[in-house]
Amino acid sequence: MTEEELYTVYKGVYVVSSVHTPESLKYLQEFAFRPDDIIIVTYPKSGTHWMQEIVPLIMSGGDPEPVDTIVSWNRVPWLEVQQTASLELEQRPSPRLLTTHFQYNMMPPSFFEVKPKVIYVTRNPKDVFTSSFHYHEAASFLADPGPQTQFLHKFLDGKVVFGSWFDHVKSWLNAADEEHIMHISYEQMIMDLKDSVGNMAQFLQKPLDHEAIEKIADRCLFKNMKKNNMSNLSTLPREYLDQTKSEFLRKGIAGDWKNLLTPAEAAHGQRFSYWTNEAGELLKGALE
Ligand code: A3P
Repeated sequence: MTEEELYTVYKGVYVVSSVHTPESLKYLQEFAFRPDDIIIVTYPKSGTHWMQEIVPLIMSGGDPEPVDTIVSWNRVPWLEVQQTASLELEQRPSPRLLTTHFQYNMMPPSFFEVKPKVIYVTRNPKDVFTSSFHYHEAASFLADPGPQTQFLHKFLDGKVVFGSWFDHVKSWLNAADEEHIMHISYEQMIMDLKDSVGNMAQFLQKPLDHEAIEKIADRCLFKNMKKNNMSNLSTLPREYLDQTKSEFLRKGIAGDWKNLLTPAEAAHGQRFSYWTNEAGELLKGALE
């Protein structure tokens, strides 16, 4: 189906009409944050579900129970999606674990008043594009990506769900009150997961010993997480997400864009190379 059939525009960006309903967007707009809420914030396909595995394990001190027994979208719910209102987040004990794909300037008033903890994950935009292209082939609630180059133009122009990757990253990296926001990249986590888990635990003020960090990092390795039916989206109906077309936990590597993008596409309009270097690291100059 097409964008017109599947998406609506909310605060200037596409959202999925069937998932981000007017009621659910109003729910987030009126949501009362608590100072000790922990919010995973990402542009889609940047490692959201990976974080939904890591953060609960950090908060449980490495006890696998929450990730073994609670499905990811209930464990760390998206604030903007339709079913979240029924989860009665108001009744959940602190610290609540939450997720959003909103850009910084889309966040509701309570967020700016309360300043809850945020972990913002970036990923090399070429890999985000690559992951997204495959995901759009499998997810029935997303518009058909069409030919790759055409989808690339939509991605670069922000005519995709949650808008432009460039605007998203810029909004969160330039956010005011930075001390309640931690930035980490997908590539950092790939390079050294133990170190990343340790840094996140420190930010979340959850001291963990070496053994617990090792256990969490091992549990969150791609090959191990892929086996977790509470996290690999295997419980979603095929009409919604057809994993025979593209698995949700697809490759889990940095640099897969090299298997998809042509050299011309990779250098497109200089925009990719303006934002990230060869290793996919963000170039600070792009934010000015
Ligand atoms: P690929 O499609 O490149 O494999 P999101 O959760 O934001 O939708 O991001 C999905 C991407 O994160 C997918 O990328 C997925 O494979 C990757 N991912 C999920 N869990 C991972 C893990 N444990 N290690 C590495 N990558 C992971």
